[in-house]
Amino acid sequence: MRLDKFLSSCGLGSRKEVKKLIKDKRICVNGSFNVKDSLNINENEDKVFFDDELLQYKEFYYILLNKPKGYLSATEDASSPTVLDLIVDYNFVHLFPVGRLDKDTTGCLLLTNDGPLAHRLLSPKYHVDKVYEAEIDKEMTNFEIVQSSFKKGIPLDEEMTMPAHLIKIDATHFELTLHQGKFHQVKRMFEYFGYKVVNLNRKKFAFLDCSSLKEGEYRLLTIEEEKLLRSL
Ligand code: URA
Repeated sequence: MRLDKFLSSCGLGSRKEVKKLIKDKRICVNGSFNVKDSLNINENEDKVFFDDELLQYKEFYYILLNKPKGYLSATEDASSPTVLDLIVDYNFVHLFPVGRLDKDTTGCLLLTNDGPLAHRLLSPKYHVDKVYEAEIDKEMTNFEIVQSSFKKGIPLDEEMTMPAHLIKIDATHFELTLHQGKFHQVKRMFEYFGYKVVNLNRKKFAFLDCSSLKEGEYRLLTIEEEKLLRSL
């Protein structure tokens, strides 16, 4: 990989900016400051320093965001802020959200630049659990019926939904676990029984939960979490 590309992918700036770092002798490759931006390096073996910091190449980034309301799960939009506007420290990576949460939904959203893994995580074949907490507009009077219907599946988009697990927290708050992610699925499932979801929070995506993150905060997954995600 070219040195300038490597430096950019480590978050040191645009190609133009890293060229200046090289010129200013702030980049050292295997003990030499006498390097060109076009130098071909082995990103896994060569020792590249920025000042005193040894740079580590990272091809894929996995970031967990506690999404606040008001942000679109998209990479760009002409009129609304997107979740990428929140991930300010990693704007040098081409991140995208793994699936979507509605603009008014809060909670766990994974972002990555790893396309194949994102694709797998979203496939219903892989049974990735998504756990939601939903608040509805009025007290539920037929919980057992709704619970068993969600378990059997209800018609949505001319097919039956996959088995979903509903737990009652109180008369207006419920936890729903899904393995698939149809458009507005949680809202439409409650709507099927005449209930409007007024607040929706995704508590878990697979084994990831954002209990340690305030709304709008994010963190990189740990190496162990990355491994676990790949093994799902
Ligand atoms: N289901 C919904 O209805 N909305 C979401 O944001 C996620 C799941």
